[in-house]
Amino acid sequence: MGLSIQHLLGLEGVSQRDITLMLDTADSFYKVLQREIKVVPTLRGKTIVNLFYENSTRTRISFEIAEKRLSASPLNFSVSTSSVNKGESLRDTIQNIEAMKIDMVVVRHGSAGVPYFLTQCTDAVIVNAGDGLHEHPTQALLDMMTIRQKLGKLEGLKVAIVGDIFHSRVARSNAWGLRTMGADVVLCGPPTLLPQHYESLGVPMTDNLDEALDGADVVMMLRLQRERQASGAFPTIREYRNRYCFDLDKLYSLPENVVVMHPGPINRGIELASDVADGNNSVILQQVTNGVALRMAVLYLLGGGENG
Ligand code: CP
Repeated sequence: MGLSIQHLLGLEGVSQRDITLMLDTADSFYKVLQREIKVVPTLRGKTIVNLFYENSTRTRISFEIAEKRLSASPLNFSVSTSSVNKGESLRDTIQNIEAMKIDMVVVRHGSAGVPYFLTQCTDAVIVNAGDGLHEHPTQALLDMMTIRQKLGKLEGLKVAIVGDIFHSRVARSNAWGLRTMGADVVLCGPPTLLPQHYESLGVPMTDNLDEALDGADVVMMLRLQRERQASGAFPTIREYRNRYCFDLDKLYSLPENVVVMHPGPINRGIELASDVADGNNSVILQQVTNGVALRMAVLYLLGGGENG
């Protein structure tokens, strides 16, 4: 049995069975990626367009590697050299690309809802690689894959997600996904960066870092998104660092095996001290490694693997 979803737009509403299937399949591809020959023929003949309207290092490169490992044909759309700069609309752009007979689209866009919009104007399979403040589902899936690798399970764990919650699509996707998988999530940040709607969804929130860290198995630090800050969310970067930077003192107050995560890119010394980011509890580069296997799993399952 394959996935019950046709596109991956977010983790809100995605079942435990579907998430487990994506994580289990990613574990299998992780093993493939340890071999000398890392390429499988699964998506040979499929053309996948990587449509990135926002900057990316990890997500864009890992999708492209995943596509190549699956023997698909990746096509990287560069907004800066495209006719988007002549005023072409998103609908016209996707319909012209689809006219060239593509199969799947991986999209990152600054506006929430663009991946859903694309499902309404193309027959291609759509994978959300981050849409505005909404969701970043493959990031949350690779985070869950990494936690399972390190701690052997998700159910019953306490995961503290700390930082700029308001602007974080990573926090949203993780809150949905981790809770579906039976983990307890607590969100922490300055009150101005804690959206109240989470409380109505039953996700606990606090502006006190020590309270959030108490009993945490996993600490997921988030980037302070300075490019998205409206003025006045917090007084100064120095004050933010004093209250929310996860440093060695905080790390040493936690159990020895606590797992430290960050989706990247890191503002070193602001939300996360360098000696913690590069220390033994950090799985940050393992998250990046897992991103390739996880994205292979998503493309395989949506693009003709078990659904084919
Ligand atoms: N985590 C993440 O989305 O990183 P990029 O913006 O570099 O893709």
